[in-house]
Amino acid sequence: MVIFFKGHDVILVTGAAGFIGSNFVHTWLGSNSDGIINLDKLTYAGNLANLSSIKENGRHVFVRGDIGDADLVTRLLKDHQPHAVINFAAESHVDRSIHGPEEFVQTNIVGTYHILESVRGYWSKLPEDKKAAFRFLHVSTDEVYGTLSADDPPFAETNPYAPNSPYSASKAASDHLVRAWHHTYGLPVLTSNCSNNYGPYQFPEKLIPLVIHNALAGKPLPIYGDGQQIRDWLYVEDHCRAIMRVLEAGRVGETYNIGGSNELANLDVVKTVCGILDELRPRSDGRCYAEQVTFVKDRPGHDVRYAIDARKIERELGWKPLETFETGIRKTVQWYLDNPAWVEGVTSGAYRQWESLQYGG
Ligand code: NAD
Ligand code: DAU
Repeated sequence: MVIFFKGHDVILVTGAAGFIGSNFVHTWLGSNSDGIINLDKLTYAGNLANLSSIKENGRHVFVRGDIGDADLVTRLLKDHQPHAVINFAAESHVDRSIHGPEEFVQTNIVGTYHILESVRGYWSKLPEDKKAAFRFLHVSTDEVYGTLSADDPPFAETNPYAPNSPYSASKAASDHLVRAWHHTYGLPVLTSNCSNNYGPYQFPEKLIPLVIHNALAGKPLPIYGDGQQIRDWLYVEDHCRAIMRVLEAGRVGETYNIGGSNELANLDVVKTVCGILDELRPRSDGRCYAEQVTFVKDRPGHDVRYAIDARKIERELGWKPLETFETGIRKTVQWYLDNPAWVEGVTSGAYRQWESLQYGG
């Protein structure tokens, strides 16, 4: 057995080579002295370049592997005795779930089942004080609640689940498993359901980084349907801070909705990004990036509106976002402009195949 961290407590974080997970690692290492074991399968969405700046940090260790690999997870738990597991690992892209739902069932449902069982085996043998202090935090999405019409109140934790895509159905199933492992076996779980994140290291298959990438490449900016679908946007670091608060002070067995109170129509998000690019990196022909907007076929089963009622986490845990959409989106665009090598690294080969499958040509 290799001792990863001498003199530090440890948490196991899954999927932390992806967008939110890697941001979480950076946020955690900047504000907490515990070490992190990062277990990630490195699917197309996992990228060690997201972690290159902490390569030399002795409090972060990367292990390539699957949350569904019970032998590996059991060994990591036994050898390193983490006091918490945070489960970010998932297939996360709605459009990919429409083209190929199987991986979503495999990782998000079966994988979550396996890691819950591995964690339960480990947790049940801990001494009483460590057992009481242990937490399994499952990172989930607002999409489990389905879709809202214009005058519905935002999603509260008490809303019934009504997922509409293979992605959200698989996340809803995973949330139910987590809940059941608490009610049946007493596993000390926490679940967070967050709205749309944006920020550094987001793979350019998702709306905001896709638009930045395509705009700079002189390509069309594809808007599904009429672009009037509404999402609530949260800067990723605010989400990471919320997860840290839930881990620290969340009530066992509870779920916490996390959101930015930034409801925006997709077309307005895209126009905002274009406006910032016009200012920071004007087109060489002097025209506006918004001229590249192209309306394309709608996403099947496209949810019309998401909105989050985040009053529970604000009231109970004192969390509030630090960024507004205006400040967060400007930072984000600037980050993509400052990191062309990162973008280059993730938009070759397999990415082009995805572009052609989803957008044609
Ligand atoms: P992402 O796709 O960028 O990253 C997912 C990571 O999980 C990747 O590094 C991938 O390699 C890894 N992974 C996938 N399958 C795995 C497996 N079987 N075993 C181990 N690792 C595996 O996703 P993200 O946007 O960072 O989302 C992280 C989590 O947050 C997901 O659970 C997602 O459902 C949830 N979430 C995302 C958002 C958002 O806006 N992106 C909002 C709310 C909740
Ligand atoms: O709400 C939280 C969810 O947000 C997370 O659980 C998911 O993991 C995350 O991917 C995100 O899901 P969305 O489907 O909302 O994100 P996406 O960036 O794919 O799309 C945002 C909106 O923009 C959505 O209404 C679809 C639209 N869209 C997206 C793409 C990629 C377009 O109009 N054109 C596009 O090319």
